[in-house]
Amino acid sequence: MIKIENVSKKYKNKERIISVLDNVNYEFEANKLYCIIGKSGAGKTTLIEILGLLLDFDSGKILINQKDVSSLSDNEKSIMRNKNFGFVFQSYYLNPLMKAYENVMLPMYLDKSINNNQRKEKAFKLLSQVDLKDREKHFPKELSGGEQQRVAIARALANNPDIILADEPTGALDTENAINILNILKELSKQGKCVIVVSHDDRVKEYADIVLKIEDKKIKEA
Ligand SMILES: Nc1ncnc2c1ncn2[C@@H]1O[C@H](COP(=O)(O)OP(=O)(O)OP(=O)(O)O)[C@@H](O)[C@H]1O
Ligand SMILES: [Mg+2]
Repeated sequence: MIKIENVSKKYKNKERIISVLDNVNYEFEANKLYCIIGKSGAGKTTLIEILGLLLDFDSGKILINQKDVSSLSDNEKSIMRNKNFGFVFQSYYLNPLMKAYENVMLPMYLDKSINNNQRKEKAFKLLSQVDLKDREKHFPKELSGGEQQRVAIARALANNPDIILADEPTGALDTENAINILNILKELSKQGKCVIVVSHDDRVKEYADIVLKIEDKKIKEA
């Protein structure tokens, strides 16, 4: 599904160069829930941003369904992203001025084959899938943290992506909400998606098919 080959990443600023990933290789498959662990600063967010075509890297390749996407233009990458990926990032806030269903509709605007009524209908359906029936017209500030996270998941699913990338999706949630989110992510992997979750949270490990650890600039099976 998504494969990285010999990927290396260094951050450079004026004072220093920080090498985060060094010749990393891994193939992520469909139908699986991956949990990526590692110390703070190990490079988990860096890896997930590279996988999501959000961050450039220094050398190596990324292949999505055997197609090398590393040398696509920014515009081609953003089309690829919109079509293939769903993102559930803590830093990817919901738009506070939009109702829940409007947030979920956002990624659908790039798909010109459907009209607004169809987008809205789809948004309502996705919200009911994450158990947010009757919250469709709430603004983010009128939702709990767990509910907001579920809106973010519904939005991530808007274009029916094959790959779901989640960075600490349960970080701010209590046990009940965390388990709810994990069940949704697990279900998506069983439906055939490749779900990759970065987490310090031991609860996530229990749900994962494969636990990966980033350590010493490499990915290892934990
Ligand atoms: N834009 C940047 N410029 C310079 N250094 C950076 C930049 N972004 C991240 N780093 C450094 O790269 C390393 C890896 O960062 P990353 O965010 O991937 O870690 P992480 O494993 O996600 O950590 P955490 O668990 O704390 O979220 C860290 O040492 C960080 O300081
Ligand atoms: Mg991080």
